[in-house]
Amino acid sequence: MEKVVDIQHLSKSFGNHEVLKDIDFSVNKGEVVCIIGSSGSGKSTLLRCINLLEKPSGGQIIYKGENILDDQHDIYAYRTKLGMVFQQFNLFNNHDVLGNCVVGQMKVLKRSKADAEKVAMRYLKVVGMDQYIHAKPKQLSGGQKQRVAIARALSMEPDVMLFDEPTSALDPEMVGEVLTVMKELAESGLTMLIVTHEMGFAKDVADRVVFMDKGVIAEEGSPEQIFNNPTQERTREFLKRTLSM
Ligand SMILES: Nc1ncnc2c1ncn2[C@@H]1O[C@H](COP(=O)(O)OP(=O)(O)O)[C@@H](O)[C@H]1O
Ligand SMILES: [Mg+2]
Repeated sequence: MEKVVDIQHLSKSFGNHEVLKDIDFSVNKGEVVCIIGSSGSGKSTLLRCINLLEKPSGGQIIYKGENILDDQHDIYAYRTKLGMVFQQFNLFNNHDVLGNCVVGQMKVLKRSKADAEKVAMRYLKVVGMDQYIHAKPKQLSGGQKQRVAIARALSMEPDVMLFDEPTSALDPEMVGEVLTVMKELAESGLTMLIVTHEMGFAKDVADRVVFMDKGVIAEEGSPEQIFNNPTQERTREFLKRTLSM
């Protein structure tokens, strides 16, 4: 099984606060991994360390056989291989939908405008937003904005897509349309790492579920294992708390 990213002994501290402790973790090509856990357990920090929005305090991130935390490594080239979708969409408000999906391709991948637009249109179709190419973000609903953000990330043709609670900022009636798109992407074979509170989605779509607690991976396994047969008391407690809400 080919590992897209392989994290070894990853740690991260903010001052004296050790937020990630000796994390070993990898994502295989084509795999969908969901990360669950209480607020403050370190889920976002793990994602942000993987794509180097945060600098890890220690450990290794192995990508294509090399530790990208080595000094001589080109972290910019690495980062273009990871697509990121945030809770708050983070669209460029001064660009329209098509522009949002094109600028990164032109600036970072040096694609021509025509090529970039072709790629963007392909992914805007995938997320069902190809009818809105000239709309500005402020004219869109939250669900539509998030679908554009997904298309924008896909337009960079990354090796793995990272999602940090992509539906947490949405009105309840818009959660479904975003999860539907994500499920379709999962079924198309895309490699995905998803932090989510949507337990139904994780159960349904994940190949593997990772439960984080206080900066460590407390337990991981198939959805069936984690949701129906957790071995750790803290996993059971978390699920009891979460599923009763
Ligand atoms: N930039 C930061 N500076 C200081 N502490 C931070 C920073 N980012 C996160 N933390 C702390 O790290 C811990 C884990 O946060 P986070 O990764 O956001 O958790 P989660 O995403 O699971 O809710 C929390 O205690 C949080 O306060
Ligand atoms: Mg978070």
